[in-house]
Formats: sequence, structure tokens, C-alpha cells
Amino acid sequence: MEQHLSNRVRNISPSATISIDSKTKALLREGKPVVNMSVGEPDFDTPVAAAFAGIKAIADGQTRYTPAAGTLDLRKAIAQKLMQDNGLQYTPEQIVVSSGAKHSLFNVFLAICDEGDEVILPAPYWVSYPEQIRVAGGKPVIVNCTEETGFKLTAQQLENALTDRTRAVLLNSPSNPTGAVYSEKELRELGDVLSKTDIYVVTDEIYERLVYDVRHISLPTLYPNLLNRTLLVNGFSKAFAMTGWRLGYVAAPPAVAKAISSLQSHATGNPATMSQFAGLAALSHFDDSMVREFRRRRDRLVRGLRELPGVSCLLPEGAFYAFPNVSKLYGRTFKGKKVEGSASFCELLLEHELVSAVPGEAFGAPDNIRLSYATSYENVEIALERMARFIQALQ
Ligand SMILES: Cc1ncc(COP(=O)(O)O)c(C=O)c1O
Repeated sequence: MEQHLSNRVRNISPSATISIDSKTKALLREGKPVVNMSVGEPDFDTPVAAAFAGIKAIADGQTRYTPAAGTLDLRKAIAQKLMQDNGLQYTPEQIVVSSGAKHSLFNVFLAICDEGDEVILPAPYWVSYPEQIRVAGGKPVIVNCTEETGFKLTAQQLENALTDRTRAVLLNSPSNPTGAVYSEKELRELGDVLSKTDIYVVTDEIYERLVYDVRHISLPTLYPNLLNRTLLVNGFSKAFAMTGWRLGYVAAPPAVAKAISSLQSHATGNPATMSQFAGLAALSHFDDSMVREFRRRRDRLVRGLRELPGVSCLLPEGAFYAFPNVSKLYGRTFKGKKVEGSASFCELLLEHELVSAVPGEAFGAPDNIRLSYATSYENVEIALERMARFIQALQ
């Protein structure tokens, strides 16, 4: 008998990043020297101070429930961080800490979307947004942002996408997968349009610390009038290399924060107590040597990609991804197999040259592939050599 599945889950597509990752790991288990450029996590260690704070919390018996929204100490420290780094004033009651920013985002969509509510989603987008919006009953309204605008949503595109069903717009700067960072001018143009609406602004700032030669700006610092409908999501995974600790947060207007906290109290309850202690220590131990190393790898990767025939690549200003356009190579064949699009490009590259990349299709951008440089400088160089060989063999 076929098992019944709800409509809610039946149409969820598995995360493409995770499926490439498992193929990559299977090859690695077979002993194949894969260069893994598909990862979405820093290849650095959690700051020692944070790791020890987590261990100490366990040893001290901090192994019980905390308030569902997180400890008051951690929420106070996050509010302080938002003031210091972003110039935004929040009270601890406006912060809800969750089991990763992914969880925070899911809570956000559940809290603001009614059935059929539209969420404007600029593409290329991070894989989980459309699925989360749909599961919450919302409708992702995908707006294609092209390389001409640096993969960024323009004020005109935003204006055109607004309808009377629009509930929110999602901004992700620095972006996964493109590495694009919105400038002050671009944010001001979007802010002008948003100020004339009453929609929510969901701003995912999880890569804020990973910017190269540009400044990360949080939209409501330019438009304080938008603060009472901004849902700012951030977390510890990327800035503090704490992906496995599962810790993220949302800062929201009081009524929304309260609703999210109640929702969470019935779902997961508090994020892991020891992780909260680790996170509290991490906030004062950001290590910018990671940023310097990422910049060095980015420069090498982008320079190398631009030298490959048929490949073009914008300079990503943040995060740890390059998002080259490989569409000029579509239609060619590799050992008799046709490169139909980004999925077959990535499959053939993985199978024959052992470089793991994520097809742009997963992010709503089929002309591109995503290469993560959260791997060693040497691996970046090896990947470039292998890609050059792959492209040379195309007929
Ligand atoms: C844009 C973006 N937002 C949110 C997340 C979620 O991070 P986490 O749940 O590990 O905090 C990720 C992770 O890859 C991401 O790339």
C-alpha cells in the first residue's frame, strides 16, 4: 500500500546542495580524490573560546531547558551585537534564538504567511527559501536578477512584482549563491519603494562578516521607518564556523517576535542549551583571519575561472561562493555525453574530473554553477586545473 503523504510535504524537492554533497561523499568514501567545491560551510574550526564554553556548559550541568526563545544572556548579547555592528536598536524580547538560521527563517515564514500570500524572492536564491515559503502556505514570486545588475534586485523589479497579495520581500546580502552584496545606493533605491508599501522585509544577513573590500549594510539602518516590519535573520554558522552547533536568530518587531517564540515553544522548544553558551562566547571572538584567507582564495578562483574559455564570472563581494556562467558550453559533448545544462555540467565534472560543484538550476539560475571556496587554496588551484582539462575535452 502506498503511504499517504500530506500535500504539504509531497511537493518538497530535496535540497540539491545536499544531494550533490552525498554523491561527493560517496566518491570520497571510495577513496577518490574529489575536490569538494559544493560545501556551504567554512573549513575553519569553531573559535576555541566558543568550543570550551560549550564544553564547560555541559560540565557545569547547563543541560536543561532554557526559555524557548533562548537565554536572556544570549538575547541581550545579540541585541548588543545588533547595536554595535549594525546600528540597530532591539530589546532582548525582540530576539528569538533558534536551531540555526534555517530554522529562524522557517519560523518567520510560518509566522507571517497566510495561504496564498506572496513573498517576493529574487533569483538566484538560496535553495531552502522557496520550499520554506511553500510549506508555510505562501507563494514564492520569483524575480530573475541578471548578471547585468550583479544578480541584484532593482527597485523597478521590486515595484513590478508588488501586488495586493504581497506579504514580504526577501533580501539576502551577501548572497548565497552569488556572493553579491547590495551597496548603499542599491539599498536606498529599494528602501524608497518599500517605504511606500506595508510589506515585511525579511533580510537574511548570515554572511554579513564575510565581505571583501565592501561594507555590509543592513537596510533598516538607512530606513529606520522600516524597522517595525523588518525581520532580520542571522546566525553563528558562517561567521563563527559553527554549522554543527545549530544556532541562529531573528530580530523582529515585538508582536512578531512573541508569535515566533510561541510557535517555537510548541515545535522545538529552545535551541540546544550548550550551543547557546558556546554562541554567547563566540560573539566576542570573531576571527578576521578567516576573511583574509577567503579573499585570497576568491581572488585566485575568480582569476582562474575568467581564464577558462567559455566561462565568465562576476567578482563576488561576499560569502564564500563564486557563481560562474558556463552556459556558452551547453550543447557541447564530453566523451559522447551532451552537456545539456548546469546539472549535466556538474555531473560530468564530478564523474570525470572529480570536482564537485552545485548546478545553478538549484538556485533558479540555470546558466551558472556554484563553486564554494570554503576549501583550501591548493584545492582551488587543483579544481581550476581539472576544470581547464574538462573544458578542453569538450567537443
Ligand atoms: C543564505 C543562507 N541563509 C541561511 C542559512 C542557514 O544557516 P544555518 O541554519 O546553518 O544557521 C544558510 C546556510 O547555508 C544560507 O546559506
